[in-house]
Amino acid sequence: MPKEETVNLALRRGLFYPAADVYANAPGGFWDFGPEGSKIRRNIIQLWRSELVEKEGFVEIHGAQILPEDVFKASGHLENFNDPIVQCRKCNSLNRADKLIADKIDDIVPESLATPELDKMIEEHKIECPKCKARDFNEVKKFNMMMRVDIGATGDQPCYLRPETCQSIFLDFKRLYQLHRGDLPLGISQAGASFRNEISPRNTLLRAREFGQMETEIFFNPDKIDEVPQWGEVKDYKINLMLLGKKAKGISCEEVAKKKIVSGKLVAYYIARVQQLYEKYNIPVEKMRFRELDKDEKAFYAKETWDFEVETDLGWIELMACNYRTDYDLAGHSKISKKDLMVNEGGKKFTPHVFELSAGIARTFYVALDLAFRKEKRGGEERIFLDFPARVSPYLVAVFPLVKKDGLFEKARELFEELNESSFSVFFDEKGSIGKRYARVDEIGVPYAVTFDYDSMNDKTVTLRDRNSMNQKRVKVKELSEILWKLSTQKLSFKDIK
Ligand code: GAP
Repeated sequence: MPKEETVNLALRRGLFYPAADVYANAPGGFWDFGPEGSKIRRNIIQLWRSELVEKEGFVEIHGAQILPEDVFKASGHLENFNDPIVQCRKCNSLNRADKLIADKIDDIVPESLATPELDKMIEEHKIECPKCKARDFNEVKKFNMMMRVDIGATGDQPCYLRPETCQSIFLDFKRLYQLHRGDLPLGISQAGASFRNEISPRNTLLRAREFGQMETEIFFNPDKIDEVPQWGEVKDYKINLMLLGKKAKGISCEEVAKKKIVSGKLVAYYIARVQQLYEKYNIPVEKMRFRELDKDEKAFYAKETWDFEVETDLGWIELMACNYRTDYDLAGHSKISKKDLMVNEGGKKFTPHVFELSAGIARTFYVALDLAFRKEKRGGEERIFLDFPARVSPYLVAVFPLVKKDGLFEKARELFEELNESSFSVFFDEKGSIGKRYARVDEIGVPYAVTFDYDSMNDKTVTLRDRNSMNQKRVKVKELSEILWKLSTQKLSFKDIK
């Protein structure tokens, strides 16, 4: 079960909740994000966009979510994108065979294991049906997770909802390569929805049937995998790598490249960038690792995979797959579409290779929320707050009039509009006691709150409150914007405000 308190908070504050839950027969694995949840979700994407797309000089697209059958013949999904499922003979419930075994033995079970092997493990480990506790299963079968949609009035154009956002990136590659003046490496990114017919959606956002992905495919010349102009920026930076059969440890990018732990400098460089991005989501480095997958665990398209995982109360959760996909996808699409997707560099014609950074938006959301959750006792009273960084929190600042009367509401509203026009994300609330208003914004992670009181009318100062310490400072209204900007960009800490 997810850490209950995190999920309770999310539901209480409407950060996320089950989709269509007014209907008792709504299928599981679909989630809506409420007003503040949507903002946090957008900020998670925006931070990725700013740090891992724009700073890297990548381009971003918005591709269609429904694609023709041939795309998934070429990508291999129709044949290989399968989960092993097993049905209980007594109560007929269906479960993922690998997950049932993994839960019992508390270890990873590769989903790609042959079905007879999974049957054997079910027998050996005396696996029970989670619903009725019987130990009587049918043989394990492979179940394709693609969601089919029939297009057109006669439904004779079979199409599929994309199971990963990246397929349109491969399809658009040649066009964007030409627009990009025929230069490699070329990073193409996309954030959007993916769909998988998961047999047992569970743990709220962590295993859903519709979920967001933020993906980048970096197309490069395989002969130049060690040519990274920005190498100097990361060479001494340590990345937490967990090599096969070993414990995770921090190894500098330079050592990783020298010892050929990864296929080339390009791989080490982007793994470092991922770790740096997640530091910005406030995930402590010691809770992160890049786990090397062995051949049974890797996806069918990958030559090398490092799963980026974060430790939570639920154990290690995979947030991102870092896959070296070689020319698998471009070659596949070229074969089925009969289009030439090769490039010409210095007189040499070749199909570019791809290194992929494929992150789950909802998983990043869940883990950032879980690790930001704080509960503490102050003066005998318990409070909960989310220690989100300013770039993730739904608002930077809340503005409150102490009371609604005596012109305080109007003055506070003026201040709210001024801050709003300075492009800060601002929340205004005039209802209820000031204590309750603070508690509300603490629980959704707003780092600062400003209260406009009677003194503010005379001395043009306001109270600025810090979410984490609950300390308060009196600051001049005319200096507020600059102070907030410095706080949000970490150029000033709250205790240093004069
Ligand atoms: N394009 C490669 C790809 O899709 P993946 O490992 O299948 O690789 C990448 O998925 C990421 O998408 C995962 O690391 C995870 O964060 C997220 N993800 C995958 N399946 C998910 C699901 N059912 N629910 C929520 N997130 C999921």
